[in-house]
Amino acid sequence: MTPSLATVLVGDDDASVGYIRIKQRLASELGFVSPHVRLPASASQVDLHRVIEDFNADRGVHGVLVQHPVPGGLDYGRALQVLDPDKDVDGMHPVSLGRLALGLPGPVPCTPAGIEALLAFHGVSVAGREVVVLGRGATLGRPLAMLLAQKRATADAAVTVVHTGVADWPRFARRAEVLVAAAGVPGIVRPEHVRPGAVVVGGGVRYAGRRLLPDVDPSCARVAGAITPRVGGVGPTTVAMLFRNAVGAVRRAVGG
Ligand SMILES: NC(=O)c1ccc[n+]([C@@H]2O[C@H](COP(=O)([O-])OP(=O)(O)OC[C@H]3O[C@@H](n4cnc5c(N)ncnc54)[C@H](OP(=O)(O)O)[C@@H]3O)[C@@H](O)[C@H]2O)c1
Repeated sequence: MTPSLATVLVGDDDASVGYIRIKQRLASELGFVSPHVRLPASASQVDLHRVIEDFNADRGVHGVLVQHPVPGGLDYGRALQVLDPDKDVDGMHPVSLGRLALGLPGPVPCTPAGIEALLAFHGVSVAGREVVVLGRGATLGRPLAMLLAQKRATADAAVTVVHTGVADWPRFARRAEVLVAAAGVPGIVRPEHVRPGAVVVGGGVRYAGRRLLPDVDPSCARVAGAITPRVGGVGPTTVAMLFRNAVGAVRRAVGG
């Protein structure tokens, strides 16, 4: 049996093409085969669903990754609902998110899972400490808050989530022992928002062409006790968690 992680890319967004290349290279290094379908940006929702359904039906394919974002006009959320939840490697299928909410085992959204692993690896215990997450988006802030509040040695945190509905979010941010930026607003987190010595994790980014603009202003390093680097911070851990989910999908497929 050869582990198989299929990838689907719609359109020719530079960053997405790069991400798919990285994932395929890693797949090959880890012994996965990686069938790939690339649809033109003009593809319809039905075209996208057909590709996903073909991979669902293929017993030789264990995991399926639909690269996000898809071009405007296509609905990523609807496409995900077509995917067999057992083949979800992004942890973003509604069934996977439901399992996360219930504390059941299953694929976990990759960037949040990577942040928990990164903190644990560096000996940053969040148990019993206040973690403030700036952003409640479906891919990062919301699942991260659920994850870090779970009953587990590497979680068990007191999590506060702030967003545009909390006008005075800096007041909460300054309280945080661990502050996670998950807003997608370049430079929104500045040194005056960071409690001296706090751990700062930069998850949110925006692209201007190929330039990556992080949420966390680099000058926060002056105040923080520890901080993720501007480039290569939560990206590698996200990809690592993708493959952890892919291994889980293979295990489910072989029933062990
Ligand atoms: N590095 C990676 O591998 C990786 C992976 C996934 C996501 N990301 C990045 O993580 C970020 C979040 O992703 P997402 O999909 O969860 O985003 P999203 O759905 O766009 O959510 C953004 C969140 O930030 C909040 N926000 C935006 N502007 C704000 C402001 N001025 N003040 C306070 N809160 C503000 C929004 O509040 P409201 O809810 O009130 O609108 C929303 O909750 C994005 O930049 C994304 O690119 C990175």
